Amino acid sequence: MQYVRLGYRQRVVYLARVKGGVGATTLALNLAWRVSEKAKVLLIDTRAAILGFLVCSDVLDILGVEPFEQSEWETPRVLQLSDNLYFLPYPSTHEKYDLDRVVLEARRDYDAIIVDLPPLIATDDTLKSASAVVFLYGGGASEGRRLLRLINHCRTQYQKEAVYVSTVHQPLLNLHKEGENSDWIHLPRGRIKGGIFDAKDLAGRAITEIIREVWGKDLESEKQGFFARMFRGS
Ligand SMILES: Nc1ncnc2c1ncn2[C@@H]1O[C@H](COP(=O)(O)OP(=O)(O)OP(=O)(O)O)[C@@H](O)[C@H]1O
Ligand SMILES: [Mg+2]
Repeated sequence: MQYVRLGYRQRVVYLARVKGGVGATTLALNLAWRVSEKAKVLLIDTRAAILGFLVCSDVLDILGVEPFEQSEWETPRVLQLSDNLYFLPYPSTHEKYDLDRVVLEARRDYDAIIVDLPPLIATDDTLKSASAVVFLYGGGASEGRRLLRLINHCRTQYQKEAVYVSTVHQPLLNLHKEGENSDWIHLPRGRIKGGIFDAKDLAGRAITEIIREVWGKDLESEKQGFFARMFRGS
């Protein structure tokens, strides 16, 4: 038995930043939440922890969901958060941690996969499996220099689709100098209820803009049927 998704280009979106505490998990969660209104989404937290039998994750904390139980010896399991939103705590400390493989397997089952990464300190292969990268910038000077290195590495090595998001209104990091038409999307602090931005305030509208950049028209018309699946074989 095999399901094939029709009329929909799958997206694997990685959230990249070089600094802690810039709001990455909040952004990842809000993107996942909003996209899940139209498509089946898996949100992966690569920095979750399984302590004894308890799964701990910033995603669950932000949502106010009670930690759930799972043994640290078994492969992390997917938790359903809502109708179309699924969550996988896949700690990078897990002995079988291999993000590329986890993403590859998830591609069979989800329309969109959103990966919340820790701050990236090296320009390595972490972003390899992404189809789009959302770079998140908190506004700092040395942070900007490091982020630019990461952006350029990603551009030259992988030519990924990229979206640039800044939590400050006038970022010190000037993308135009790099000879591209890229621009920043400003993600201000917003009102948060249960971890989710109010869709009508500026933060909520920034989410709309990011989604439009990554998904384009794909998420706008439901008529194409994101869930249209073809039943093949038996
Ligand atoms: N745009 C925002 N508006 C309002 N509050 C926010 C926003 N972004 C983040 N916060 C709040 O700031 C705190 C830190 O955010 P978050 O955990 O998303 O950051 P992070 O970059 O994932 O941190 P870490 O580096 O530890 O992974 C949270 O309490 C969150 O509710
Ligand atoms: Mg985080």
